[in-house]
Amino acid sequence: MPDSNEIVVVGADGLLGKGLLNLCKKEGITCVGTTRRQASPGLIPLDLKKIVSLQVSPAGENASAILCAGITSLAACRERYAESYRINVTAVSAIANNLLEQGFRPVLLSSSLVFSGKEQLQRHNDLPSPLTAYGKQKLEAEENLIHLSDKSLVIRLSKVIHPQFPLFHGWLESWRLNAPVLAFHDAFFAPIAVDWVLESVLDLCRSRAKGIWQLSCHEEYSYADAAYALADMYGVSSSLVTPISARERLPKDERPKHPALDCSRFADWKGDRVPNGMSALRWFYNQNPL
Ligand SMILES: NC(=O)c1ccc[n+]([C@@H]2O[C@H](COP(=O)([O-])OP(=O)(O)OC[C@H]3O[C@@H](n4cnc5c(N)ncnc54)[C@H](OP(=O)(O)O)[C@@H]3O)[C@@H](O)[C@H]2O)c1
Repeated sequence: MPDSNEIVVVGADGLLGKGLLNLCKKEGITCVGTTRRQASPGLIPLDLKKIVSLQVSPAGENASAILCAGITSLAACRERYAESYRINVTAVSAIANNLLEQGFRPVLLSSSLVFSGKEQLQRHNDLPSPLTAYGKQKLEAEENLIHLSDKSLVIRLSKVIHPQFPLFHGWLESWRLNAPVLAFHDAFFAPIAVDWVLESVLDLCRSRAKGIWQLSCHEEYSYADAAYALADMYGVSSSLVTPISARERLPKDERPKHPALDCSRFADWKGDRVPNGMSALRWFYNQNPL
């Protein structure tokens, strides 16, 4: 174990937790992660169902605990509210406090679903209005963190696209068989590429940013728009996209009309442009041949 840690990643087996830990290692940042799976070298066992404290090497000078662990399925939070609340709110807040006492500033990865999605491009300081169980839990965890310390950092994300994004891989499988894909024309998302998210989260941690920040593109696409765009990139006929309605398949609250968040605070701070949503789809395309 190193003498001190700059980053603790709670939940280092998930998409973002694993990516953050790998990025820290690549950049030479002393770091450690937790896992609820069988302990493996370099990871500390932590199942938030059972334990909400952790002993790690002393915190470095500008140390952060990035809280990635949680029940992230909207359906699971809806169907098993009490159980998911215990993890997403009670346990996450407790482990944040525990790590704060050891000198790690808590950093929560939160979600655009702290808003109802009825308004366009909500700002970081707009009043949240979650409708989903997941969004309500995320908001409560945010509030707990902000009350814990004036150094706490909350980073809200829109939909993160990664090279293994299962929905898009399902589409690729169908297109390989020359079969059409079904894609919602009335459910929307605001895609951002995982690499940009990981680098941005680490940037914010290293710069001692605090309060609420948002990472999102400003465009909103229906899943059918995305399927048409990807079909075009892959040179697949648009006839292999069948738009369908999400009405019968997803609860209304889980289909925000406006999933994109205002990301100008971050873009201004970086002196950069807000990434274009289509670039996240193109990024997926570049990583995955048909
Ligand atoms: N990905 C996105 O598009 C997105 C968008 C907005 C916000 N976020 C937020 O970003 C954070 C990370 O998201 P993600 O996409 O990386 O999620 P993920 O892939 O689902 O990872 C969640 C992690 O939490 C762990 N976990 C679940 N229950 C646990 C428990 N009882 N004790 C300890 N660990 C537990 C999981 O462990 P196992 O791997 O063993 O199951 C997994 O490693 C989440 O808080 C999510 O709400 C993500």
